[in-house]
Amino acid sequence: MNLIAPSLLAANFANLEREMEWFNQSEADWLHLDVMDGVFVPNISFGFPVLEHVARLTTKPLDVHLMIVQPEKFISQVRDLGAAIMNVHQEACVHLHRTIQQIHEAGMKAAVTLNPATPVATLEEIICDVDVVMLMTVNPGFGAQKFIEHSLDKVRRLRQLITASGSQALIEVDGGVNRKTAPNLAAAGVDVYVTGSAVFGAPDPIEEVKVLKQLTS
Ligand code: DX5
Ligand code: ZN
Repeated sequence: MNLIAPSLLAANFANLEREMEWFNQSEADWLHLDVMDGVFVPNISFGFPVLEHVARLTTKPLDVHLMIVQPEKFISQVRDLGAAIMNVHQEACVHLHRTIQQIHEAGMKAAVTLNPATPVATLEEIICDVDVVMLMTVNPGFGAQKFIEHSLDKVRRLRQLITASGSQALIEVDGGVNRKTAPNLAAAGVDVYVTGSAVFGAPDPIEEVKVLKQLTS
């Protein structure tokens, strides 16, 4: 599978309506929304008042990436946005299994994200319970950082774990995805490609999504 998920973090926040126009016209599959709290990551992005407005501007699935401590506190608020996927960090969840259950009970798909330093093996016991595993391919908190090359091995190890366990989980990657890194990620077994600066910074974002779609097919 090759789904493209543009990350709103790289958008022009003074003109979100216009950004959402090209997004809706493009071949993009999911809208990736990066929420930061200044505690789990050393940056603050946007919160629910902004997300509520953005959610009304598209019918494509929302992938809400919570880079916050105690994300389980916000399950009902994310559900009320109409989000399809609630994405929590393994490092931020003390009771990850319970949080995954609660996300499912709220009617959303559960995605679990790993920071670059967190081993794939930490998901061994819950790999069959998650819908998506997202690997951070940069350290979370900022857009337009350099792709961590070691991530390709990590994707391959995650693919092995998923295959061996019989899990149906999709593999998503976030950070530094562009024309150069996307083909290698596709070869390693990625299903969902989050991409911020590469598409929002492109002269023609619709065309850029199309190119990334082709490069990963
Ligand atoms: C980083 C965010 C990413 C970010 C990716 O903390 O989770 O979604 O927007 O941006 P690029 O594609 O520019 O690396
Ligand atoms: Zn993200």
